[in-house]
Amino acid sequence: MAVDIHFLGHAAVELKAGDTTVLVDPFITGNPQAAVEASELEPTHIFLTHGHQDHYGDIVEIAKRTGATVVALTEIAGELGEQGIENVFNPNFGGTVTFDWGWVKMVPAWHTSTTPNGTVTPPAGLLINIDGTLVYHLGDTALFSDLQLIARRGDKIDVALVPIGGHFTMDRYDAVTAVEFINPGTVIPVHYDTMPVIETDAEAFKADVESQTSAQVVILAPGETHSA
Ligand code: NI
Ligand code: MN
Repeated sequence: MAVDIHFLGHAAVELKAGDTTVLVDPFITGNPQAAVEASELEPTHIFLTHGHQDHYGDIVEIAKRTGATVVALTEIAGELGEQGIENVFNPNFGGTVTFDWGWVKMVPAWHTSTTPNGTVTPPAGLLINIDGTLVYHLGDTALFSDLQLIARRGDKIDVALVPIGGHFTMDRYDAVTAVEFINPGTVIPVHYDTMPVIETDAEAFKADVESQTSAQVVILAPGETHSA
């Protein structure tokens, strides 16, 4: 079955397959790129890469309103539980949480992470198998060589969501090397143009990736959907 990847702006995406809607990094309120209102979202699952506000966003409100199943790193999951969210899984790096439609695996990322409430953790990337399509949301990360190990441990990555904005993450030049390491079928650039310090040239990134790797780059404007 096809997976619809709905870009909500910044690093927020929805992955939809059948009755499953996985919402990743639901920074909607205060996101100048946001394509929706937080109150419009009806996810069945919410996954978090790390605690920074531009990823954590509206997770508490959305999870409480919808009863969605939440997956976040151990310490963040604990904090969310204390805030009254009931269905929370708390894996750590290397851990996989399995559902009837697939699974999510917590993998390392090179960045920092503190939640709006002060919980300090490392950040993560997320490998998500939804209905047989393998999606890698890199989270916020710098370029690091173990991206190769993460991506080559299992099946080929179908879609990689790669930050390209620089300043807080890898820039579009390092991101080309990240794509070489990950070797995905399709790349969707994220985490750019949301604010002046992370403005970049996504079309130039696309040209570089498509001339230097076998991956195709799909540039989504906030609100647009790609079917994989
Ligand atoms: Ni961050
Ligand atoms: Mn970020």
